[in-house]
Amino acid sequence: MAILPIVISGEPVLHRPAEPVTEFDAELRAFIDDMFETCEAAPGVGLAAPQVGVGKRIFVWMYGDQDEAPERGVAINPMLWISPPEPGLPEEGEEEGCLSFPGERFALRRSARALLRAQDIDGNHYELETSGWFARIMQHEYDHLNGLLYVDRLVHPESRGAQKAERKNGWGTPGLSWLPGVADLEG
Ligand code: NI
Repeated sequence: MAILPIVISGEPVLHRPAEPVTEFDAELRAFIDDMFETCEAAPGVGLAAPQVGVGKRIFVWMYGDQDEAPERGVAINPMLWISPPEPGLPEEGEEEGCLSFPGERFALRRSARALLRAQDIDGNHYELETSGWFARIMQHEYDHLNGLLYVDRLVHPESRGAQKAERKNGWGTPGLSWLPGVADLEG
C-alpha cells in the first residue's frame, strides 16, 4: 500500500479522456488499494485514476452515512446517466472542491440524481441509483474520466474566480503535484 502523489490542474492526463480497463488482475487490485489509501489521506470523498497520473477509467469513493451505496466503492469503466439539473445559478451549499484544484471551492449546479453502471474490482457489472451529494460525487468523478475538472463547468462569476485562483497558485502547467499526509503543496 502506498500514498500516491496527486497531480494538479495543468497536468495533461487530467485534461484528456481516460482509457478503458481491460485487465482485472492483481496489479489493478494493488492500484485500487493505493487509490483508497490516497483518497483517505488527502482526505477526499472521491478520487479518479487520472488524478494520480494514471489515464484509466477508474474512480473510488469514500463517503459514509448513506443508504443508497456502500461507504466506499470503486467504479471501473463506468457509465453515468443524469437527470436534468434544476435551472438557475448555483446556490449556497453547492460548493465543490477537487484534490487536483486543492484548497479552492466554487459553486456548481449539478443534477440531483444519477444512475451509475460500472464494473467492480472483479469485473462484475453493477448498477447504483444515486441522489443528492452522492450523485454530485458521481458526476464529479465521472467527469475526471472524460478529461473534465469541475472548474471547467463553472459559470460566471465562479468561473472567473477559478481562473484567478489558478493564476494565483501558479497552476495550469504540467508537472505539479502534491503528496497527501506528507507535505503541503509543493512546486
Ligand atoms: Ni476532483
